[in-house]
Amino acid sequence: MKDKYYITTPIYYPSGNWHLGTCYTTVICDALARFKRMQGKDVFYLTGTDEHGMKVEKKSAEVGLSPKEYVDKQVAGLKDIWARLGINYDKFIRTTDDYHEKAVQKIFKKLYDQGDIYKSEYEGWYCTPCESFWTQTQLVDGKCPDCGREVVKTKEESYFFRLSKYQDRLIKLIEENEEFLEPKSRRNEMLNNFLRPGLTDLAVSRTSFKWGVPVDFDPKHVVYVWVDALTNYITALGYGSDDTSLFEKFWPAEVHLMGKEIVRFHSIIWPAILMALDLPLPKKVYGHGWLLLGNDKMSKSKGNTLDPVTLCDKFGADAVRYFLLREVPFGQDGVYTNRSLLTRINADLANDLGNLVSRTSAMIAQYFGGELPAPGKPTDFDQALVDIVDGLYAEVDGAMDGLNAPDALIAIWKLIQRANKYIDETMPWALNKAGDKDTLATVMYNLAECIRIATVYLQAFFVETPDKIFASFGVTEDLRTLESARHFGESRPGARVVKGEALFPRIDIEKELKALEEVKEVKVEVKEEPKKAPVENVVDITEITIDEFAKVDLRVAKVLTAEKVEKADKLLKMTMDVGGKERTVVSGIAKYYTPDEMVGKSVILVANLKPAKLRGILSEGMILCASDDEGNLVLISPEKGIKSGSEVR
Ligand code: ME8
Ligand code: MG
Repeated sequence: MKDKYYITTPIYYPSGNWHLGTCYTTVICDALARFKRMQGKDVFYLTGTDEHGMKVEKKSAEVGLSPKEYVDKQVAGLKDIWARLGINYDKFIRTTDDYHEKAVQKIFKKLYDQGDIYKSEYEGWYCTPCESFWTQTQLVDGKCPDCGREVVKTKEESYFFRLSKYQDRLIKLIEENEEFLEPKSRRNEMLNNFLRPGLTDLAVSRTSFKWGVPVDFDPKHVVYVWVDALTNYITALGYGSDDTSLFEKFWPAEVHLMGKEIVRFHSIIWPAILMALDLPLPKKVYGHGWLLLGNDKMSKSKGNTLDPVTLCDKFGADAVRYFLLREVPFGQDGVYTNRSLLTRINADLANDLGNLVSRTSAMIAQYFGGELPAPGKPTDFDQALVDIVDGLYAEVDGAMDGLNAPDALIAIWKLIQRANKYIDETMPWALNKAGDKDTLATVMYNLAECIRIATVYLQAFFVETPDKIFASFGVTEDLRTLESARHFGESRPGARVVKGEALFPRIDIEKELKALEEVKEVKVEVKEEPKKAPVENVVDITEITIDEFAKVDLRVAKVLTAEKVEKADKLLKMTMDVGGKERTVVSGIAKYYTPDEMVGKSVILVANLKPAKLRGILSEGMILCASDDEGNLVLISPEKGIKSGSEVR
């Protein structure tokens, strides 16, 4: 029987923009899941959304939707991102799923019946963005110790989970089982900041809002969102339902992967709940670092986000995946800049990988008519390639077991870079010139073999590129397996090699940086959180109502004649047809458009603008143009032909 491997991301809060930081945990889990599948494991990869809580309740009200309508939209957006990034999860759980809600109620009831949950009164401080309760002593300068934001005082009747009861077992777990919580720094943090100072019981129900799983035996309470959320890891497998076969097969998880800010929930509260339920504990909780934008964590609630969809559209899923997997030193924070992304794409993907593939396929086409030759006479440089390949499996496997994708990629790139160097050393063009086909055959075979082997490993990290490379080198299915990549020399002579299109076109970095800046500006503008205007500022508001907009009469107009206005080098005088009536319009576009260019054009006219005299000519309206701060100006025209006089709205 295959070994099972259960890996999870946290479930995501659908409470703001999905951004590149959001993708970090999921892409790493995806790479790990792919690698484990390639190793022949029976993998279950779980992700999903954490949809309850006060924040979603508030947010949905702000945008005029019901909470469910709001989360449905958000979830659709997230699933679209996962599809674009090629995330191959086995299950997507939503905490609003019926089976989950029922199971949460069962779990809550069971813990209550056995005395691990009891009813009391809660007084403390609540951080809405974090959905966290804090006691007075836990606050830092009166603010949330996690995010530094304002907290609100709360007093309510609440159910409590006897977290304190599990303190000693939790300390023992983290002290004695080094595998359980990684990296090591997080272990010390949990022990010193939370466990050793002493745990207090945890408020696990709320009465202050409604959007949650009701406590079925006391329905004015809803289950605390973190209890609702953490239990997803078992309810997704059917725990608490009629069919527990997946649970029996896959629990406990091999790895829960998450950002460091939620390690506390996963390494203290979650194991305590499992202990109370008398269930096995996950084998590993791993808290990775953050993707930063500037000095700050990229974050929904801070709004400093970068849109992954734009990046995927521009550079492809594999470039984005590669950046996330390679750039952030694992376990630590990593900074995103547009330049670092573009540099990675050019240096590692276009140059190292892309060039190796295109040069090799082109040479096999040129020298051997596109047929992979059998190796002939050895060269002095062959062994170096074989040595790297021999050690590669252990290196990648070791790195991946430590959840260290950057090191795995570095190991694969050693082979890619060594193969590029091999081209320089063996100088195939010189061998060809000298008529040494025998050595040339060796070089081509070895290069194709390096490419095949590197690509086999790349299947864990990339979702589009490997198939392209395999197709270009005629690599059959049986030679795409990890097993086949452990031995140098399995490629079959005679395979058809064709030069494919460039895998990663080189980017003009300076030009692209500018384009990306513009993308970012537009995005920020569009996505800025709607701010509620303070009442005293009403007069400053520049928003207009639809009725005010409707007062502007915009019409399609067709330019009939155009001429320069004497002694006014900026102005053009035009006559135009607006639905059968003729108008004269004077416009300051003479520097951008000649009279000849204008005649016959369709434009958009502000038709009810009060007429005004310009250089003695009565102008009856104004035509619409767009201009930027670099002095460019362009006319706005209907995108297709349409009758003059048509209304624009
Ligand atoms: O915490 N860099 O959800 P979430 C790296 N619902 N990782 C980042 C990141 C960044 N800039 N921004 C977010 C929650 N993440 C809870 C989890 S689990 C039972 C409940 C990661 O949407 C973050 O660290 O705030 C976490 O791993 C994941 O995105 C979801 O975060
Ligand atoms: Mg978060």
